[in-house]
Amino acid sequence: MSPPVPDRILLDDPGLLLRWIASDPAELDFDRIDVCEIWGLVALATLGRRERGTLSIRETIGETGASRFAHALGLDEVVAGTPPIQVAEPERTVKLTRLRDFSAIEPAANQISRLLIARDDLADTRKAVSYVLVELLRNVLQHSQDDLGAVVAAQVRQRGSDRSGVQIAVGDAGIGIFKALAGMHPDLQSPEAALERALWPHLSGSFERGLTGSPSQSNAGLGLFFISEIAKLELGKLMISSRGATLILEGGEEPDQHGFRFLQPTGLGFPGTLVAFEIPLGEIADYEGLMGTIQRRAQERQPKRQVHHWLRFEAPPPTISPLLVRFICENTQAASETARELEPRLFRRDPVALDFRNIEICTQSFLHALLYAPLRLAWARQAPIYIVNAAPAVRSGLEFLESYALGG
Ligand SMILES: Nc1ncnc2c1ncn2[C@@H]1O[C@H](COP(=O)(O)OP(=O)(O)OP(=O)(O)O)[C@@H](O)[C@H]1O
Ligand SMILES: [Mg+2]
Repeated sequence: MSPPVPDRILLDDPGLLLRWIASDPAELDFDRIDVCEIWGLVALATLGRRERGTLSIRETIGETGASRFAHALGLDEVVAGTPPIQVAEPERTVKLTRLRDFSAIEPAANQISRLLIARDDLADTRKAVSYVLVELLRNVLQHSQDDLGAVVAAQVRQRGSDRSGVQIAVGDAGIGIFKALAGMHPDLQSPEAALERALWPHLSGSFERGLTGSPSQSNAGLGLFFISEIAKLELGKLMISSRGATLILEGGEEPDQHGFRFLQPTGLGFPGTLVAFEIPLGEIADYEGLMGTIQRRAQERQPKRQVHHWLRFEAPPPTISPLLVRFICENTQAASETARELEPRLFRRDPVALDFRNIEICTQSFLHALLYAPLRLAWARQAPIYIVNAAPAVRSGLEFLESYALGG
């Protein structure tokens, strides 16, 4: 017999559900739950995926508010298979969805954020939400080793009398962050230490501490850093629960007054990795300014060194046709392949040109996968790289890349 599931599953008190999950329940009777926020549904759906067979979820028949909510959000479908992304209620909820292809990440993040935040006056919040979704989904596909991929969903919700907030959640049942980091960071002694370190800029399971990337890997170690900084700077909330630890970060009125704690008892963590992120709707008034601030905050934590500029933000000579980045945007696998194709050209000192037209949101991790290695090679061989049609946020991301890729 499984112990009873908590009747209220709220991000304000995530320990209730995580402790229940830690008791290794075999069954879930959804009709016992009164209220369940989206992160709880993502957690349960991630574990309930039928192929996995770890948690059996009884059909949601809709006797309580939470079970009606689960039903509307497609819990039964996501457990059984792979429903497409759909809106459950316009501008309120996006159904639970599975995802396991790199090429599906950018369209999914774009679609979810547009379904949820349709209003034009909230475009800056929408871009940030899309950014966070891309980074979280990519982390699952790159690092979790969960062959079923990710479960994702999103919700706009009213918190008491406060403004509404957007809550998004991404889950996997994979190896967890401690194990993913342990190989390159043998000094990490505990899951808690690993979670804290995973938020540092340029900290990745793909390369050793002290580096900012590796030529053979596409990671920058910046995904979780950007997400946690958005939470700190915009009154957001971030929960990362991953095998053996759960970290909760809450933005304060001043960026450096944020709250940071681990859930008690020590050792409590989702069996896989579960990330919930929430921000007040409309809090972000200037997406580009926010990205610039986060880039500066990352630079402040780097050892001071001379900054070199190598990228040419100008039209290339007419004989060179620029490569359109739009077609591979946010697909870091395709970006790494493109990088490998550029390298022999740069080695021969042939100029290269990239066209960033029609790209509004471009994660730092994507720019890194595309250009970290080519930029270093171009600098060493003195081969020009031209950049055209980059929106201001894309250009500042490229300049930030130069600041850490080209050692002084
Ligand atoms: N879902 C996950 N499962 C397992 N490990 C994870 C997961 N998400 C993050 N990690 C670990 O945390 C590290 C830091 O993640 P982060 O997104 O900040 O950097 P990255 O993915 O290495 O680089 P980038 O995001 O810039 O491409 C990862 O390198 C990985 O070791
Ligand atoms: Mg990442």
